[in-house]
Amino acid sequence: MTQLFINIKELVQVRDESVKKVSGSEMSILPTIKNAFLLIKDELISDFGAMNELPNYSIDKTIDCSGRMVFPSWCDSHTHIVYADNREQEFKDRIKGFSYEEIANNGGGILNSAKKLNKISEQDLYQQSSKRLEEVISLGTGAIEIKSGYGLTVNAELKMLRVIKKLKQNYDIPIKATFLGAHAIPKKFKNNKEGYIHLIIDEMLPKIANENLADFIDIFCETGYFSVTDTDKILTAAKQYNLIPKIHVNQFNSIGGIEISAKHNAISVDHLEILSARDLEILKISNSIPVVLPSCSFFLNIPYASGRKMIDNGLALAIASDYNPGSSPSGNMNFVISTACIKMNITPEEAINAATINGAYAMNLSQKVGSITKGKFANFFISKEIPSFNFIPYNFGSSSIETVYTKGKKQ
Ligand code: NIG
Ligand code: FE
Repeated sequence: MTQLFINIKELVQVRDESVKKVSGSEMSILPTIKNAFLLIKDELISDFGAMNELPNYSIDKTIDCSGRMVFPSWCDSHTHIVYADNREQEFKDRIKGFSYEEIANNGGGILNSAKKLNKISEQDLYQQSSKRLEEVISLGTGAIEIKSGYGLTVNAELKMLRVIKKLKQNYDIPIKATFLGAHAIPKKFKNNKEGYIHLIIDEMLPKIANENLADFIDIFCETGYFSVTDTDKILTAAKQYNLIPKIHVNQFNSIGGIEISAKHNAISVDHLEILSARDLEILKISNSIPVVLPSCSFFLNIPYASGRKMIDNGLALAIASDYNPGSSPSGNMNFVISTACIKMNITPEEAINAATINGAYAMNLSQKVGSITKGKFANFFISKEIPSFNFIPYNFGSSSIETVYTKGKKQ
């Protein structure tokens, strides 16, 4: 089916297919076409341009977008949306003054989610996760990465990854799966971290590869979780299964996680709330894109990553939601964009680039999504009547989205 969207007030993030990511000062440029048309053929973007140059296409359906803007869908490159139940009690405990670390040490945190996840059936887990996925799609997310990491046993990690596989099969948006077995040391291995690392390497990895359940591998490289040596060991083992690293680093401490991730050619290094001068120098010469998670800082009341500094140093920056039950129980990318602008001093142009084309890059999806480009998936949204794209972060907490399309289908 051919659909033509006409009289678009402004078509945002129009790019040539050669642009895979934008870095440094390029991030301040957001290419748009005013008074534009967009042609969709089946599930792909087929053409776009200015209304006064509209060719005479034969079309099945015309949609008038007068007063409204069109954006490529958000690309959320870091989430943990497959989880069981919630952790509101920990939220209340933090308000009372307990830190994230204290709560984790008292049986809360990731191990609390692991307990819940081991009890839930695969069906119920799918049910809860698909609800969250549908919610974020309605908020404009059109490509997403989802991690395991709340199972921490062979069966429960496989259960999580099978749920992600089912979501991939049943939803129209591109989904990337990440194996995060090394998210925390399970209770059973409290005094035997080496034993758990063996379980990851000798049992989990071969089974996951055998069922083709993951695209990426992640590790929580952090004091009290997995060390740089552990990270090196697991990434070395993952290499034979062609799992690309995408690593949690520098959330609370800078312990050398960026360096080891870069050494293993990580596609992205994520969190970076703490960043040393040396870390920044390594990022400048590495191929790993930094992914920062402003809503996690908001929710945990921890420092924000220095996104401004990273851009000013010529880096490409991506922003993501980190949607998870402990540190960011929201997958609203519109809020992530607002928080990046307000708390990281990033302009709306930079934040929109970070949430679209650079987010796609951080998932190895720049061929398919992240911009209005011929041949990419028709995953986009039509805004409400808004004065400009600045209104999205400005009007924080509200939705400026009127209609969402995924693979050319109205949601
Ligand atoms: O990205 N830091 C590690 N993992 C998650 C939080 C996990 C949790 O608290 O459940 C994050 O913030
Ligand atoms: Fe995370």
